[in-house]
Amino acid sequence: MLLVHRLIRGVAAAFLATHFGAFAQTAVAPAPKANVVVLATGGTIAGAGASAANSATYQAAKVPVDKLIAGVPELADIANVRGEQVFQIASESFTNEKLVTLAKRVSALAKDPGVDGIVITHGTDTLEETSFFLTLVVHTDKPIVVVGSMRPGTAMSADGTLNLYDAVAVAAAKDSRGKGVLIVMNDDILSGRDSGKRINIKTNAFGSQWGALGSIVEGKTYWFRAPVKRHTMASEFDIDSITTLPMVSIVYGSGEMGTTIADAAGKAGAKAIIHAGTGNGSVPDYEVETLKKLRASGVQIIRSARVPDGFVLRNSEQPDDKYDWVVAHDLNPQKAKILAAVALTKTSDPRELQRIFWTY
Ligand code: DGL
Repeated sequence: MLLVHRLIRGVAAAFLATHFGAFAQTAVAPAPKANVVVLATGGTIAGAGASAANSATYQAAKVPVDKLIAGVPELADIANVRGEQVFQIASESFTNEKLVTLAKRVSALAKDPGVDGIVITHGTDTLEETSFFLTLVVHTDKPIVVVGSMRPGTAMSADGTLNLYDAVAVAAAKDSRGKGVLIVMNDDILSGRDSGKRINIKTNAFGSQWGALGSIVEGKTYWFRAPVKRHTMASEFDIDSITTLPMVSIVYGSGEMGTTIADAAGKAGAKAIIHAGTGNGSVPDYEVETLKKLRASGVQIIRSARVPDGFVLRNSEQPDDKYDWVVAHDLNPQKAKILAAVALTKTSDPRELQRIFWTY
């Protein structure tokens, strides 16, 4: 009996060695790691507080990019990473000029065959404007990922290190290509077009009314939807042909809002006014006359809404056809401001502007 048992084991071992041994010998070599460039601009992800208890009181834009990268040694397991310090500012201080400078650097890197993906570390305050601007003007299919944090690296349960790891993992993933500029925060992969900061004191700060595109967990991407609006390679706008952006102002709607702000914006040279209206982009009757006068003087009038979700319907609340106004569709006022500025580099025809707002 023992002899039979040994015979069977011997045959089984020979079979496994032949098949699995062959399999082991032909095991696939690990794929080469992606080359990811981290462009640092400042913000809380580069912030520092006086103590670990300071999760909300700290100074943004202190830690340099090489220290950010060195603070996450695990990055080396998922990509070949190098950093550039483009700015070191709190993002509320971003200007149009800085947007153009950053986008030109991103575009140049995207053209480099030695670069597979780009991560931009950024303050969360205006991260949504930068990510929308990049998705409109950078012509590449390569992943571009904008990331920030809600707590400085010096705080207990800081979120920046994992956010940066997740952002590099998304930028290194081949299946992130062709989805437009992405925002990675709190394990979410979000569209740079319609995502933004919805809470100003928590780590789950970012989201979109249309939901996340996917999730990133332990360095692996999980996708559930893809953008349907035009972006990046399909965009008619190109940072290589943009040098400056026109002035666009936002006028915030409220009861008894008066006409002073809109008038001042017109006098200051705004090429477009984004009316952040109450409800469905409503405009008070006394404001209508002011906006009509501004339109007659060449200023574009674009109705958005202060209401965070939904979208503004053309010719509802106001006769946009009659007034030659534009509606911002589902874009909130700050996103509408970015698209208006980019669109105005190409056209001042309100019908063309409306097409652009339906399309991007
Ligand atoms: N000053 C804000 C900024 O740089 C800090 C907020 C943050 O980065 O999370 O956007």
